[in-house]
This record gives sequence, structure tokens and C-alpha cells, in this order.
Amino acid sequence: MKLRSARWFDGGDEVALSHRVALRLTEADRGRPVIGIADTSSALNPCNAGLADLVAEVERGIRDGGGLPARFPVMSLGEDLMKPTAMLYRNLVAMELEETVRANPIDGVVFLANCDKSVPAALLAAASTDIPSLLLIGGSRAAPAYAGKPLGSGTDLWRALDERRTGRMDERQWQELESTLRCAGPGACNTMGTASSMAIVTELLGMCLPGSAGVPAGGARLQQIAWETGRLVAEHVRREWTPTQRITQAAWDNAVRGLAAVGGSTNAVIHLAAVAGRLGLAGDLTRMDRLWRDVPLLADVEPCGARLVAAFAAAGGVPALVRAMGPLVDGGTVAGDGRSWAQVAAAGGAGAAASSQGSTTPAGVIRSLDDPVRAAPTLAAVFGSLAPDGAVVKVAAATPQLLQHRGRAVVFDDYDAMRARLDDPAAGIEAGDVVIVRGCGPKGAPGMPEWGMAPIPKRLLARGVPDMLRITDGRMSGTSFGTVVLHVAPEAAAGGPLGRVAEGDTVELDLAGRRLDLLVDPEQLATRTFPQPAAAAHLRGWPRLYADHVQQAPQGADLDFLAGPTEAARRFIEPTVGRS
Ligand code: FES
Repeated sequence: MKLRSARWFDGGDEVALSHRVALRLTEADRGRPVIGIADTSSALNPCNAGLADLVAEVERGIRDGGGLPARFPVMSLGEDLMKPTAMLYRNLVAMELEETVRANPIDGVVFLANCDKSVPAALLAAASTDIPSLLLIGGSRAAPAYAGKPLGSGTDLWRALDERRTGRMDERQWQELESTLRCAGPGACNTMGTASSMAIVTELLGMCLPGSAGVPAGGARLQQIAWETGRLVAEHVRREWTPTQRITQAAWDNAVRGLAAVGGSTNAVIHLAAVAGRLGLAGDLTRMDRLWRDVPLLADVEPCGARLVAAFAAAGGVPALVRAMGPLVDGGTVAGDGRSWAQVAAAGGAGAAASSQGSTTPAGVIRSLDDPVRAAPTLAAVFGSLAPDGAVVKVAAATPQLLQHRGRAVVFDDYDAMRARLDDPAAGIEAGDVVIVRGCGPKGAPGMPEWGMAPIPKRLLARGVPDMLRITDGRMSGTSFGTVVLHVAPEAAAGGPLGRVAEGDTVELDLAGRRLDLLVDPEQLATRTFPQPAAAAHLRGWPRLYADHVQQAPQGADLDFLAGPTEAARRFIEPTVGRS
């Protein structure tokens, strides 16, 4: 086995000498692989903050596996604070990781990640660098109890928001909720939001330890996983196991189906498309819809179910899910520890230690194909005159009656317009209307923020209207729920028909027929235009580069020059190793 780092360290000249000195290498270190630890912990990102506590165990695991650990910091993508959205920076972090690996004597990598976008950024980097690597995902946060119920991250806040807007929750209760949430501690959202969904997807792609998705943050089990991940990456280097050997078409298909089985986040649909684009896999929405058609909801986890992610992990996690999915999973694919998924599923997952909190007890949280939480499908793709290149619906979180619906369009050109006018009685919004929020696609905002789940107008909420059909070229949080058609492509800012919908037009969703249509004469439509977003705010820097090169949601909102349609375009060119 020839180490990549040997290009830096081998030789008797002054260049190799200075490289060895820089990493303080001794003769005893010769031939040991350098394993980078990409550390995304940050005080600005509570979901990733706990990752710092795992570094020592990862380092110990790497040394026990015969490697040399080298931690390096990475930009941290947190959903809570980053504006307009952490999604704007996913591709930047993927590039940062790829270039850090490319420019340095790194033989393998442990990517530390947790919050929504840090996980796909690492996956994209792993796919493109294709050096031996695994992700270590930081686990789900504890659920503090409010009003006698453990709080599900995001999901319970959206429910409380509706209570507050209708006056059923007063100011004191709202403040109590805030102080309760403050006690939740570090870790990712404890519902089946994007972070949990991506942890499960990552595991099915063979890019983290089997049985690790969803384990509680801060526990002994995660420390053990950290050590094992470090040790395993050193082994991956020795055996020359690379990510692309595991992220095959079959593994990608498994991940798409697994996402549906857990009622996972629609954001993961975009990230999976980006992974497919990086590796030249078939990853279009038509294929996804076909894969989703016979997958029922097997995980009883919020927002589509009733429990929290810790219960999913305690019930055996992804290995137990794979067992439950039976023929829906290709067991010949390879898990992060080198075993086939058939072997992992047969061995059974140890699972995480069950929490003492009621909703995290594991019984019945992972169901069988014969006794699902709800019937297939849980996710679907729709196409039509309003979404020629497709859109996505989280069927499991929607109101069944609204999945076949025709209504009058109420149109908002951006987020601020929606927030300003939605609750205004003068807007005249009625229960059967279709709320359209546009201008929030990859180019439009830019970055495709989670603005898609427009609140139900206060006046209608008070009348007991729980849901409306909403359509957007943006995204929604994985912790959200409701009948929302997302990721409409092409987006309004790219000239898609969503930009030409006028107030009062008739829109029709026909989920059974997988159609989304604007019932307007095409000739009349051709005369309308959508005002392009003001570019002035994004004339420079990363947002400029992003807006110029980002692709649409069905292509994973990846940058056009990062996709890998050909073998030659898929991996970086090694740098010349001479004097810097
Ligand atoms: Fe970070 Fe949900 S906000 S995982």
C-alpha cells in the first residue's frame, strides 16, 4: 500500500524534510497514515458544539489503528443562526473540505458533523475526494419536558407557534417554552428532521458506523463510536477502502428508500441528488418516485409519527430498520465497517441505551412491513405545467384530502411579503386557497431557505383550518409538517412557470397522477414575467459565485463545476508536491 502522504514525506531533500518537520514526524512514524479529523464544532452552532468532546476519542482510535491524527477546523453550518440559510454554504464547506484534503498530506479523514448541512457537505466532500473516510455524527439532543411531554425539536415549536398565534398560548407560557428549550443541551434535532434523516442516509451509504445514527449526544455510546470510527478509518486506509466503493447505485437506492421508510426530511432528497450528481449515479426525481412507491412508513418518529429519534436508536437504529425493510433493501451493499448490510442486519444492532423519558422508549418504534405506521408512499415527486422538472411532496406529513386539490392561487413573491400579508384579513385568503411562496429557490434567495411552510393564516387557524395546500420553490424544515409541495423546478428566479402564476389562477395537485398543474392558457402565461431578484445584494463573494453556478433542486442544488458527469471530472488532480 502506497500512502498518499508519502509524496510529501518520502525523500532526502529539503522539501520532504520540512514536510516531516511540520508534522513533527519521527522515524517511528514512517509508513503510518495521516488521518485528518475535520472538526466542525463551534460555539455558533449548538448542534455541533458537542463534537469537540469527541475529538480525543477519535484521536485515540486513530492511534490504536496505527494512524497519526491531525485535527483541522472547518466552517460550521448551523441552522439556528446562519442567514439567509445554512444551505447557501453547504457547497462552500464541501469545497473547503475537498481543497483541505487535496492540499495536504492526508491519507484518510474522519468528518465530524451533526447539524443539517454539515453532514451532506461532508458526504459530498467524501464522494469527490474519494479518499478513505467516514463521518462521525454527533447524535441527537436530549428532550426536555414541557407540559408533561418531551419536546420534539422544531416540530413542537411549530405547533406552539400556532397555539400562540390563535391566543391559546399566552406570553408566560411562550416564555416557559423558551426556557425549557434552553435546557435541551447540545446535539442535533431529536425529531426526524434533516439531521436525523441525513444520519440515516449516511449510514445506509456506508459512510458512518452501522448503528450510530440517532444515538443520544453526550453519552458513553457516542464516545465508543468515536473511538471505533477513528480506528476504522485507519483500517480503511490500510485496506484501500474508498467511499465510492460503498456509495454505489444500489446503496444510493437503499438510502432513498430508507429515507422514505423513516418519514425523513425532504431536504435529504436534495442532498441525495447532489451525491448522485457528484458520482454520476442515476439520481433523478422520476427514479426516486419509483423507489418510494412501495415504501411505507416504518419509523414512528415525529413529525410523521409520535416518538423521538432516541427511541429509534434504542430500538436498534438503521440495522433494525434494514431488517424491517426486508426485500426493499439490497443487502449486498457495504456498511461503514466493511460488512455487507445483510450481515449487519442478521447480526442485529446493539442500539443505544434507552432513555428514561417516556417517548424515547423503543417498543414499537420500528414497525414491520405488515404493520406499518402508515401505508406507502411517504414521499412523492410530481411533475406538470407548474413544475416541468419536478417537485417533492412529503405525503406522510400531509393532509390526505389536500393531496387531490384544486384551488385559487394566493401568491407571495418572497418571504417578507408572505409574513407581511398572510394574516391581513384584507388579503382575503380562504381555506381552499393555494398559498404560493416563490422567489426562494437556489438562485432566488439565494440558497433555497426553508421558507416553504407558510403558516396558516391566523383567521383560518381560529376557525379550525389545520392545513392548506402550499406550493414553493423553496424548502421546509424536516421537522415541519403540512401539505406542502416543495422544490418546484425550475424555480421562479430561473424562469420557471411558478414565477408567472397570478393571484386568482387555478392550481391543481393530483398526487395520485403525480401531477402539479397551473390551469391557465399557455399563450396567456407566456405574456407574464416574474421580476428577477435584485442582484445588488449579492454582487461579490461567495453568494455571487453561488448564484452564478448553482443548479436546480433536482440536480441537488450543487454547483455546476462540482458535479461529476464524467470519470475525469469526478476527483481532484493531485497537487505538485514541491516547495510551497
Ligand atoms: Fe441543527 Fe436541527 S437545527 S440539527
